Formats: sequence, structure tokens, C-alpha cells
Amino acid sequence: MADTMEGLKRTNYCGETTKNDINKEVVVCGWVQKIRDKGMLVFVDLRDRTGIVQLAFDDETETTLREKAQSVRSEFVIMAKGIVRERESKNTELANGDIEVYVNELRILAKAATPPFEITDTTNVKEELRLKYRYLDLRRREMQDAIIMRHKIVKCARDYYDLEHFIEIETPTLIKSTPEGARDYLVPSRVQPGKFFALPQSPQLYKQLLMLSGYDRYMQVARCYRDEDLRADRQPEFTQIDLEMSFVDENDVMTINEGFLKRVFKEILNKDIETPFKRIPYKEAMEKYGSDKPDTRFDLQIHDLSEILKNTEFKVFNSAIAEGGSVRAIVAKNAVSTLTRKEIDKLVDFVKTYRAKGLAYTRFTEENVASSYEKFLSEEETNAIRAEMGAETGDVILIVADSKNQVVFDSLGALRNHLAEKLNLIEPDTFDLLWVTEFPLFEYDEEENRYVAKHHPFTSPMLCDFENITTDPANCRARAYDIVMNGYEIGGGSIRINDLEMQEKMFKALGFTEEQAHERFGFLLDAFKYGAPPHGGMAFGLDRLVMLLLQKRNIKEVIAFPKVQNSSELMTACPSEVEQKNLDELSIAINIHEE
Ligand code: AMO
Ligand code: AMP
Repeated sequence: MADTMEGLKRTNYCGETTKNDINKEVVVCGWVQKIRDKGMLVFVDLRDRTGIVQLAFDDETETTLREKAQSVRSEFVIMAKGIVRERESKNTELANGDIEVYVNELRILAKAATPPFEITDTTNVKEELRLKYRYLDLRRREMQDAIIMRHKIVKCARDYYDLEHFIEIETPTLIKSTPEGARDYLVPSRVQPGKFFALPQSPQLYKQLLMLSGYDRYMQVARCYRDEDLRADRQPEFTQIDLEMSFVDENDVMTINEGFLKRVFKEILNKDIETPFKRIPYKEAMEKYGSDKPDTRFDLQIHDLSEILKNTEFKVFNSAIAEGGSVRAIVAKNAVSTLTRKEIDKLVDFVKTYRAKGLAYTRFTEENVASSYEKFLSEEETNAIRAEMGAETGDVILIVADSKNQVVFDSLGALRNHLAEKLNLIEPDTFDLLWVTEFPLFEYDEEENRYVAKHHPFTSPMLCDFENITTDPANCRARAYDIVMNGYEIGGGSIRINDLEMQEKMFKALGFTEEQAHERFGFLLDAFKYGAPPHGGMAFGLDRLVMLLLQKRNIKEVIAFPKVQNSSELMTACPSEVEQKNLDELSIAINIHEE
């Protein structure tokens, strides 16, 4: 039998036991990080979520107590009472490395098997193993920092929005499936066989209805579910800090939420960030950075060479322009020694993964100028390009031509980010925030052969574009905005449609018949009849925000129990099969198609 805690109560957390406690009697408890047994001298590093404190036993310690200390092993759960004293040899790596607890009573509350990996601050243990034993992985300092930071940000959100008169309201998580957006997770209804709920992709419709109900300012820390492929910044289950406000325009929403981020940076990182953030229209973001979530911590801007090259005889360039596309370029300054011919070949393969057909280059070395395309151009064209790019000795010009502008943007946008890493253009510890505004209202869905809402069907068009929404959907812009940090979209939102006629016109532009619109969104259309205030809002991706603040590369690192690539959770091994009787209750038959 293990010892009990009877008669002892914790007085101090390990990491919070400090010099101020010298000569005090304290009781600490936690997990054994490490034991150093030097015979008559025994030291135990005791760990809890606040840090580590050293427990000490020496030749004046009662023998049975010292022997008990010698019997503990890593990850045993123990409790110790003793007197805090100054250490003889101080450990400068620990915040409280100048003190120790000289123990006079020790309880072993639980023994521990040898863990499959050592519990260390940072680790290079395989992720699969870490996730299988996530409860052990979560003992590590690095993970605890992330999980505690999540808590702090959520608390900061609740405090901030409360002060700004937001009300936290829970919305349901068993909801109606609506086919717009990502794929839904479905939940079968037992009492209504053959019918399904969906888990929410976001609280969107409910928060809009709450505006109709007069709650004026809503917030929620909301779980969202999207059955999409995982990526480093995407999980099937994630958390939003979700907001909606009435009687506001874009500027109001952006300003309030800048205030939130300002507070987060101050409270969490003790950094002052400047507001308002830059705001750039989507079109400019694409043209300058090739991305709607540009990383603006470095320059490497994209230049349009189409005007210079509109009459060129070089087929690769002129056909791209003639077919409605463009020729665009970036210049990597002082990069010629890194971007050797061989490296450029790799870059060609890199841009091809973004559907580019090629990558043309000019390298300006001390000795000569080597180019894959200048020989096909006139001298004026060559000189005009060099001047436009401001190219000098040491630089490399990289060009993509394509009949589809999207391909040019995607490939050069990705190349920008790739080169920034390769050429070390990003200063560590910088956080660059900006809003991308005036998003397109629609995007063309090649599979469905129709325009779909880029954001969602309730996003208001810009009023100046509204009259063209059926005649020129490609050029209609939305009152939508994303907040971007270091090349990641950390949040997004819009001003919504609050006018029934506008909403109906929107559904029409999306190709829904009146019946389809009513079947899917009838309740919302009905609600709009009864007085809908102008409203708008946004949602932050909490996981992404924490990931970026901690400068991690994967959101799994900031989620307690994340999913892996095939959407399973390794610790509990779910999803899993269920018993036939459960399926029968739900009137579900399994019909697996072999691929
Ligand atoms: P949106 O779909 O842009 O907007 O989501 C808002 C933010 O949530 C984060 N996010 C994700 N994080 C992790 N894993 C995912 N799979 C994932 N998907 C999204 C992103 C994103 O910016 N209802 C609207 C908001 C609104 O209009 O008010 C919405 O959900 O950081
Ligand atoms: P080619 O005439 O096909 O040999 O191409 C001449 C140069 O133009 C080569 O360096 C190619 O890599 C480059 N090139 C080919 N296609 C493209 C493209 N779509 N965009 C940019 N450069 C290209």
C-alpha cells in the first residue's frame, strides 16, 4: 500500500517555493524529476506544474527517512514536509535554484513504472509515441507552457470582451447540417431514424440570430468541427474565440479586436504592439505577396512584368499574357551565392508543385550575368526588367509566367516564403499583424461548376459592387476581413447581410432556387423578416494564435489531445468500431466500399 496524505496538506507549489520561504516549514508534492543519490547525501528534484524544487536529505537525516528517499524513482508521486534553506551549491538554471527543502517527512503516494520516454523540458521523441502517451507528454514543461498559455488567452478574451460589454452565450453543438463550407461531422439521431445532426463548423447562424434577438454583443469560446484533411495549422476539431456585434461597420469590428490582440500581447508576452494594424485589400495582397495571408516580416515583393513584356517575342511569356495571365517576378537580394544553378533547379521543382510550368532566372554574379530567358528578349525588355526589379550584382531574379494568374500568385507566394527561410530573412521574435480586406465575394468551384461564397453566404457584398452580383460575380467584393499574423490567418469575419432582399439576391447569385434557399436557410430568412439590425463579427482561431505566440510549427503542440493525420486520436485510439446493438439502435448499416 502506498502512503496516504493523511495529516499533511500542501502549503506550497514547487516552483513557487522561493528565497522568501527560507526557514519556513513547507509541504510540497508532485512527481520525481530526478534523484541524485550520493550515499549520505540524497537530492530529489520534485516537479509540479509550476516548476521544480530540490528536496535534500543528508547525514543528519534519520536513516529510515534517507533510505526511503533513496528508494524513490523518476515519476513517483511524493509529498514532503521540511524546512526551506539556502543551498550550498546554487543551480542558476532553476528560478529557485538558490534554495532547497530539507526534508523531515516523506510520503510515497504512488509508484511509477519506467515511462516510455523521459519527461524533459524539450524533447525529440517521436510524435507518435508522445501522442500515444499524451498524459506523460503533457507533464513536460514545453507542453505545460502551451496549455497554460491557452488558458491565459481565453481568460484574457473573457475579461477583455466583458469590459467591452460582450455577453458569453453558448450555442448548440448538435445542429442542422448545411452543405456550404467544409464537410460536416454527422451525428445520427436515435429517435428519428435516418436523420442526422451536424457538429457545428462554427456558431455562425446562431450568433447572427442572437443579434436579431437583441443581445447586441456576443462572444463565445467555441469548439468547431470540420471534416477536412489535417495540416500543420488545421485540426478537425479546434477552438474559436467567436464574436458578433450589432450596429457596427468593418472598422468597428476591426478596432475592437485589435484592442484584444494588443491586450493579449501585453499580458502574455509583455510586448507592446502598435494599433491600428496595416490594412491591405485582397487584390493588393495577391499582387504584392501572392497570398491572401502574406508574411510581411520580410520584403521580397512580387512585380508584374506583363506591361514590359506585352509585345515580347518569347513564346513562354507572350502566350501567358495573351491568354489572360501574366508574367511576374521576385528579386532575391544578395542571394546569388546561395542560389546556385543547382539550387535554382530545386526551386523549379518547388514551384511546379504549385502548378507553375517553369521558373525563369537571371543570376548576377561578380563575373557575369547568367540567365535562362534574357537571350529570348530584346535589349530594351531585358533592361526594363532589370530596372523594374532593381537588380544589382549579387541578386537573382526569378520569374513565373502562366496563363492563369492564380498559378503565378500561388507559386511566387510560396516561393517568397520558401526563400525567406532559406535566406534567413525572418528576424526571430517578430510578430507582424495586418488585416486583409475587400475579399472576393465569390470563388468559382470547378467541381460544382458554379460560384460559391468565399466566406459564407451571409457575408455582405460591398455596396458599390452589389448591383453587379449576378452579372459580374468574379469582380464582386465582400465586406470581409481576415487578420493575418506572420503568414497565417489567425481570424476572419465580415459584415453580414441584414436585408432580406439582398440575402435572396445573394442566394440567387449562388445558384440556389428559392425552394433550395428556403429548405436550407428558411429559418434565417424567416427571422430576417422580424427586424434584423446591421451586424458583423469575426472569429479568432485560438489554436493558431497560441501556436504563433509560442513560435511552434504545428498546432498539435498547443492542443492537449490533438488528432493526427488520419483524424484519429492515438491515446484512446478513436474513432473506433461500435457494437452492433449501438448501430441497430441508430438504424445504421455499415457499407464499406473497398477502394
Ligand atoms: P473561419 O472559417 O475563417 O471563419 O474561421 C475562423 C478562424 O478559425 C481558424 N480555423 C482553424 N483553426 C484550426 N483548425 C481548423 N480546421 C480551422 N479552421 C479555421 C482560423 C480562422 O481564421 N464563422 C466564421 C467567422 C465569422 O465570419 O465571424 C468562421 O468560422 O484561424
Ligand atoms: P524553354 O524555351 O521552354 O526552354 O524555356 C526557357 C526558359 O524559360 C527556361 O529557363 C524555363 O525554365 C523558363 N520557363 C519555361 N516555362 C516557364 C514559365 N511558365 N514561367 C517562367 N519561366 C518559364
